[in-house]
Amino acid sequence: MAKQKLIAGNWKMNGSLAANEALLQALRAGLPQQLSGCAVAVAVPAPYLAQVQSLAAGSPIQLAAQDVSQHDAGAYTGEASASMLREFGVRYVLVGHSERRQYHGESDVTVAAKAQKALAAGVTPVVCVGETLAEREAGLTMEVVRRQLAAVIHANGHCISEIVVAYEPVWAIGTGRTASPEQAQEVHAVLRLQLAAATQQADRIPLLYGGSMNATNAAQLLAQPDIDGGLVGGASLKAADFLQIIAAASV
Ligand code: PGA
Repeated sequence: MAKQKLIAGNWKMNGSLAANEALLQALRAGLPQQLSGCAVAVAVPAPYLAQVQSLAAGSPIQLAAQDVSQHDAGAYTGEASASMLREFGVRYVLVGHSERRQYHGESDVTVAAKAQKALAAGVTPVVCVGETLAEREAGLTMEVVRRQLAAVIHANGHCISEIVVAYEPVWAIGTGRTASPEQAQEVHAVLRLQLAAATQQADRIPLLYGGSMNATNAAQLLAQPDIDGGLVGGASLKAADFLQIIAAASV
């Protein structure tokens, strides 16, 4: 039997109480009672966690956060801890999204610490890795993604079997320029091998692709042997598009 896929929406800093309600209602109306072969999550801005927790209650839509503190508690103004996220029923949290690395200076070590805190609180970290256009053009893609993942493996040891990895080439995020299924598969295969050197359970670690995934290209990307799902930004804000991607991931 094929492994279950995971489709996670990343709303980024978008939404409002009214828009979230409309989106969740449309998703609930369009999803089958029981998803088959596919799990679904939405990563929402922190102020909306409670709202979306209640809007998604009783549906197969799981709740995700977009970031987590590397600290447990204390004088860290503006941050939210993994145990706080857990209290709102958060099942997944993105760590090391390229926008966090780029605009908030998050290093590989910080990202690894965040993954560790999430795991300790029972929240699954979705560890994002990916190269910039300049790095790809310089032939550094594999080196960059391997370095980013290595930090997380190093900090988390055997718990690595509990993470999700998302390969998101920075040049494909929000640009409409998707990696070809072959380009994505090539990187996913390298990441899988790296995970296999760290855990015997590498096959069950979901490896998501992200970067301009949409209703048109999802099926081809998801057909690749090492692509186990998608991290979907822009298209996750439109119910019809997100539902089509979920359908492409379902059996
Ligand atoms: P995009 O974003 O689908 O809008 O390219 C993906 C992401 O940043 O997670």
